[in-house]
Amino acid sequence: MLKNSEQNYGLVSRANHWLSAALFIGLIGLGIYMHEMEKGPERLEMYQLHKSLGIGLFMLMMVRLLWLKISPNPEQISNSKFEHILGHAVKGILYLAMIMMPISGWIMSTTGGHDVSFFNLFTLPVLIGENEMIHEIAEEIHGTAGYLLIAIVALHIAGALKHHLVYKDATLLRMLGKNKKEI
Ligand code: HEM
Repeated sequence: MLKNSEQNYGLVSRANHWLSAALFIGLIGLGIYMHEMEKGPERLEMYQLHKSLGIGLFMLMMVRLLWLKISPNPEQISNSKFEHILGHAVKGILYLAMIMMPISGWIMSTTGGHDVSFFNLFTLPVLIGENEMIHEIAEEIHGTAGYLLIAIVALHIAGALKHHLVYKDATLLRMLGKNKKEI
């Protein structure tokens, strides 16, 4: 089934989730790695790759938002009011991150005088030209948020594992497409 139902995720949302998750985790890892590299052509290549993958994540996020309008997500399975709020908050932050991280990266690059292209297929427009102050603010946001997001992703994964191993409910299974029954 492509669409979500009231209790299960459909193929489109599942594929989008796992592709975005891999990109998100990969982008954080690559971001930290390339930052530590010595200046040179290899580092530049890694930056290009990071930018291209970041645009990819942003495009997936746009598809996700469009798809949410067509086919809303199933309601979260919650065991307490606290976990209900926490689960929504963590997912809300991840949503925001998938929008804000690519945008702050784009602003950071262009105000620093660098192009942002998607695998050399197209280049993003330069909205604000070179600007040292905006460049530093965007760099601060992009860098700090990147580290904070490691904790948020860890919390998200811990939540999914707790549902699976402790509550033994369908939360993880339905994101893997293994929950065939409508509860
Ligand atoms: C191994 C890593 C991950 C696991 C095991 C995992 C697991 C899950 C599960 C089980 C759900 C469904 C929760 C529910 O039904 O209430 C979910 C939803 C979600 N996850 Fe993850 N996740 C992982 C990584 C990530 C990453 C890195 C992101 C960041 C982009 C992310 C973003 C989301 C979002 C935004 C949702 C809400 C549903 C949606 O709109 O797709 N996940 N995740």
